[in-house]
Amino acid sequence: MRIVLGVSAGIAAYKSCELLRLLTESGHRVRVVPTHDALRFVGEATWAALSGEPVTASVWDGVQCVPHVRLGQTADLVFVAPATADLLARAAAGRSDDLLTAVLLTARCPVVFAPAMHTEMWQHPATQANVATLRERGSVVIEPAVGRLTGPDTGPGRLPEPAELLRVAQRVLARGAGGLDPDMSGRRVLVTAGGTREELDPVRFIGNWSSGRQGYAIARAAAARGAKVTLVSANVALDDPAGAQVVRVTSALEMRDAVLAAAAEADAVVMAAAVADYRPETRSESKIKKAGPALPPLRLVQNPDILHELSTRRPRPGQVIVGFAAETGDVLANGRAKLAAKGCDLLVVNQVGGGLAFGTDDNEAVVLAADGGETPVPRGPKDNLADVIWDLVTSRLD
Ligand code: CTP
Repeated sequence: MRIVLGVSAGIAAYKSCELLRLLTESGHRVRVVPTHDALRFVGEATWAALSGEPVTASVWDGVQCVPHVRLGQTADLVFVAPATADLLARAAAGRSDDLLTAVLLTARCPVVFAPAMHTEMWQHPATQANVATLRERGSVVIEPAVGRLTGPDTGPGRLPEPAELLRVAQRVLARGAGGLDPDMSGRRVLVTAGGTREELDPVRFIGNWSSGRQGYAIARAAAARGAKVTLVSANVALDDPAGAQVVRVTSALEMRDAVLAAAAEADAVVMAAAVADYRPETRSESKIKKAGPALPPLRLVQNPDILHELSTRRPRPGQVIVGFAAETGDVLANGRAKLAAKGCDLLVVNQVGGGLAFGTDDNEAVVLAADGGETPVPRGPKDNLADVIWDLVTSRLD
């Protein structure tokens, strides 16, 4: 596929070098179109060497090929990363005062903007109005990640990590000229991911094998479909999904607080996290020593069942609640019993053990519905299962 990688003048331009590499290694032909000021951050030679293509910011180079028209016309995807406040403003206004904005006007393929700027600039009504305009016209504008910005300050405005941007690009390309289908725009969703850790002392905990991959795929898919996503993440070592607001927790009790705080606003909740059913009755302030008088007893107390609590309370009318069940043995029978016991609307049942589910990129599941429906999802990428879940959720929300 032919991709135009637009780069505007933000410090995050350095991350786009890695994105460029990932795109070319995935077999795409990438033409980098920086703005004039972007070249102050990363020079022409770097882009040219990494892409193997000529690089210019000007409409006056190679005029005989009419690049300001041809590049946009022949692209399968235009991906602007980072997109600064100024670039978003110029794109929203329909200006064409450099090669990149001219490409944006001539492109008939999907266009994705990955904004990166300081929080104040992102939140300014002018920027938000420009983002709304671009989205109305069918462009995808990814929500910036939250975290450390150029200086010591933190907040929304970071460019998502290159591997996450690659996933967005792949998703748009896979879906063809329609780009991303924003069928979940205007929806707020809450997703949990990972596995809780219940501390015994400052160095030890009771935990589980959940990597968070499935929950992250679910959050990523909802963000790609236009939803506002809160991702409550327990002990996950993955890049934040592009467009999701990530709340980090450690234990089941912290997860409960985070979930209940966000659930009142959520149209749908997907509880993909593996939550510990028990925690140590007490957490020792100092390290438990081997050379004590006797083997210290490990007393456990039960954790709240967050999914059951949510399903009983129903904090928002019409909310769709989805649980997960990782099972061994008679997986379906266990799943049906769990669906009834939890009281949620959908339960994604998958088999664990023997290399299945935990820590892998693939998953295989059956989604059971409280109304009797049963949707088998054959073995495939966790991203596919994520989309099936959102299809089932959105059909219930409508
Ligand atoms: N869950 C929860 N709170 C808990 C335990 C589980 O919200 N304390 C949620 C999980 O996020 C998942 C679902 O409940 O969506 C099922 O988790 P699972 O561990 O399979 O269920 P349990 O109720 O713990 O049942 P069991 O361990 O007996 O199979």
